Amino acid sequence: MRILAALALPLLLSAQHDVSAGASKNPAIQDPVAIAAGAKLYATSCGGCHGPDGIGGRGPNLVRQLQSHQLKDDELFAAIRYGVPGTDMPPTRLSDAETWQLTAYIRALTGPASDSKVPGDAAAGERLYWSAKAACADCHAILGKGSRMGPDLSNIGGSRPLTYIRQALTPPKNDPSRNFALMGKEGVTVTMKNGVVLTGIARNRSNYSLQLVDKQGDLHLINMADVKALTVKDHSIMPEDYGTRFTAGEMRDLLAYLATQTIRPSETGAK
Ligand code: HEC
Ligand code: HEC
Repeated sequence: MRILAALALPLLLSAQHDVSAGASKNPAIQDPVAIAAGAKLYATSCGGCHGPDGIGGRGPNLVRQLQSHQLKDDELFAAIRYGVPGTDMPPTRLSDAETWQLTAYIRALTGPASDSKVPGDAAAGERLYWSAKAACADCHAILGKGSRMGPDLSNIGGSRPLTYIRQALTPPKNDPSRNFALMGKEGVTVTMKNGVVLTGIARNRSNYSLQLVDKQGDLHLINMADVKALTVKDHSIMPEDYGTRFTAGEMRDLLAYLATQTIRPSETGAK
């Protein structure tokens, strides 16, 4: 927490600098009243395609899509007003004010979790996170503690929206953007010609070689010529039952804890 205060100051200064440099910033952005109005407009005009909370349906999962395709506020405004030509995304006939309210809502939905007020008891969430019941540390590290097999979560709150984190824990059914996100994080089982069996996450897989990180965090450089059989999982190795394994209260606490993880990866002090 002390480190955070030190980090926050330069961030604030640079944000102010952007505004004074003329970057577009509508007063609706981050205004709770505008965001609430935007949420209502979203439910009537957009939710039918993009699903509640932007989890997707006929249209793409907005929360995930906007993680990879970052749009500036005015680009988001334009996408809402004019639609995306050549796709099912239609133009709208909303006033400027309404369009900014929607923009503010989508921003809030897709901005870092650390920016949102997350209800729940972060300290209880922390205990749950490190418990055997959750077993998150079997696959994830926070500040160098835990396995390096899955993504590092030291900055998960600072880098990902709350809805995104919730969806990682309780994945929506049939979300193709999730499978896309698995590229480079596929679970694999490799049977070597000498009989050794390795399981873990594959990084940098090609026809000739494979890098595998196992639960211990050890990196195995594998020559495909030495491989007898390779099985690649087509779904995430992350358990999909957290929605039922945890009570609603536990899930809230865990999200509150994750939202406070805001150290940037370069400062994790990873060994
Ligand atoms: C009829 C279905 C439909 C409706 C209604 C709809 N969308 Fe979309 N939207 C889509 C599709 C399909 C795409 C993907 C377009 C593409 O392939 O790039 C999309 C893309 C987007 C994108 C991403 C644009 C980008 O460049 O990445 C945003 C943001 C978005 N929609 C917001 C909204 C909002 C806000 C509303 C309500 C005003 C809305 N959409 C209503 C179908 C819809
Ligand atoms: C068996 C291994 C495993 C366990 C246990 C596990 N995860 Fe994951 N997790 C992964 C992998 C691998 C990914 C990478 C993408 C994917 O597979 O969905 C991931 C992705 C995530 C993401 C998204 C990260 C990002 O930046 O995209 C979050 C958040 C997350 N896990 C949180 C948790 C929490 C919290 C727990 C414990 C309640 C947990 N995970 C337990 C393997 C695991």
